[in-house]
Amino acid sequence: MPKGLAILTSGGDSAGMNPAVKCAVEYANQKGYQTHLVYDGLRGLIADNIVPATRDLVSGLLHRGGTLLRSSRSPEFFDIEVRRKAYENLVRRGIGNLIVIGGDGSFRALNQFHSDFGIPFAGIPATIDNDIAGTDYCLGVDTALNVIRESVDSIRDTASSFSRAFVIEVMGRHCGYLALTSALACGAEICLVPEIPYDLESIGARLKHDIANGRRYVIAVVAEGTKMGDYLTRWINDSIGMEARLTVLGHVQRGGSPTVQDRIMAYNTKIR
Ligand code: F6P
Repeated sequence: MPKGLAILTSGGDSAGMNPAVKCAVEYANQKGYQTHLVYDGLRGLIADNIVPATRDLVSGLLHRGGTLLRSSRSPEFFDIEVRRKAYENLVRRGIGNLIVIGGDGSFRALNQFHSDFGIPFAGIPATIDNDIAGTDYCLGVDTALNVIRESVDSIRDTASSFSRAFVIEVMGRHCGYLALTSALACGAEICLVPEIPYDLESIGARLKHDIANGRRYVIAVVAEGTKMGDYLTRWINDSIGMEARLTVLGHVQRGGSPTVQDRIMAYNTKIR
């Protein structure tokens, strides 16, 4: 197997990808690989957007959110002829090993690539969804949780001032980890996630009881995977009788400087 190694970030960006790139480069160099960087994720593999990993390309990025290598979702990679193009680019450059920093979609794609052409890859789990089997932590989760925590705390200020209910929809695709963890950390009254069945009738009875006993506002955190944001907002408004608003946090959850935990977790790339 050629001694060239390429590092890419792929799929939804997450905080911690940049420190992981830096550590992966240092680790690969220590092990004697000729280390390369792929820009634009899988799309960059196909387009041969690959450069040698010089020191200045991986300097000063530890504190930066997103990924300086840029990323992409690349459905065209499902086409074997497109994958062959990526393989030929790697062969031409003497690259026989890959490190991919990304989520389960990226790992599936690279697994297929390995079955096709025998190029091994090491996967570093990085996605705010925290939904990768075999690990209990993915880079970016702590940073996203802190963004959510700050947003929910701010929303609580206006909710309590105006005696309103707020439904806050958080990301996670099919996974409720961000919703559940942030609901606990922020003391939400309601949390809906795809993995746990819920009964609006009993939630309603509890809320009505609390409101009769002095509760003036409500915070609900819902995972996007439940698709319940709109419905729950109308339900609180109409069935519970409390004026309700919906806030969809959206891509703000993917941004921000990586927290200490995400930086330190990224260092594991190097230690192991
Ligand atoms: O996988 C990360 C994630 O942010 C999910 O939580 C979300 O459902 C999805 O990506 C959004 O994808 P896009 O950035 O392509 O709109």
